[in-house]
Amino acid sequence: MNIIDGKAVALNVKNQVKLECEALKKKGITPGLAVIIVGDDPASQVYVRNKEKACEECGFHSVKYALDANTTQQELNALIDELNNDDSINGILCQLPLPSHLDDKEVINRIDPIKDVDAFHPVNVGAIMIGDYNFLPCTPAGVMELIHSTGVELEGKKAVVMGRSNIVGKPMAMLLLHENATVEITHSKTKNLSEITSDADILVAAVGKAKFVKADMVKQGAVVIDVGMDRDENGKLCGDVDFEDVKEKCSYITPVPGGVGPMTIAMLMKNTLTAAKIQNNIE
Ligand code: GUN
Repeated sequence: MNIIDGKAVALNVKNQVKLECEALKKKGITPGLAVIIVGDDPASQVYVRNKEKACEECGFHSVKYALDANTTQQELNALIDELNNDDSINGILCQLPLPSHLDDKEVINRIDPIKDVDAFHPVNVGAIMIGDYNFLPCTPAGVMELIHSTGVELEGKKAVVMGRSNIVGKPMAMLLLHENATVEITHSKTKNLSEITSDADILVAAVGKAKFVKADMVKQGAVVIDVGMDRDENGKLCGDVDFEDVKEKCSYITPVPGGVGPMTIAMLMKNTLTAAKIQNNIE
């Protein structure tokens, strides 16, 4: 069993981005990311802080907009319009979830697709479906990097994605398909779940339930990637996979924390760099 070191893989990605950023700066271009956070959700605040830190590490210009919990849709829309028209900003990210009086979909649709470094806009989602894209969604792209880091070949392998969210499950399945895996998606209505998951050479868990995946759901020698960010019975951060129960059955497994989490942010940096290049007609 090998534990995949997400921090190390993420550092490689960020170092590459940093090098490219230095080259861009010599041409007078500094990649810029705007991060919007509405309200005071503690988990979102941690994510946003980590995103700002990563921008600093990569040499990006970053601006944070911390808006009051009772910000109106009109105010949020006006900010997005302003950022869409701001040439110093190449990427715009609005941290989700938003307070319930605000509409996630309206926000996603309002961000200029060329600045949509989350790849949540329908234009970018469609581009991913076709396989002709500028940005990959950060978490699924990070999972692909982790799988690549193992050297395990995907072609013809059975991959099972647990979870069908727009942010992770659905695009995840598409990226695995692009690399010629045979892909199955499971969800809360799936029958005979463990029969399906225990046939997977690659198992990606994105269900949002603490320690949900047990050893009897995993094939001997599988690569197991845990996208979960949950709390266990003691309030401790854990994943969707019961790591201690499952680890000995895996050829490779990601820990939580230190697996997928750092990769999501590294891929956001990569997307912001790509956005800066496209908007300046480079490559
Ligand atoms: N909330 C949880 N994950 C994400 C993400 O990748 N992007 C944004 N904008 N919000 C999130």
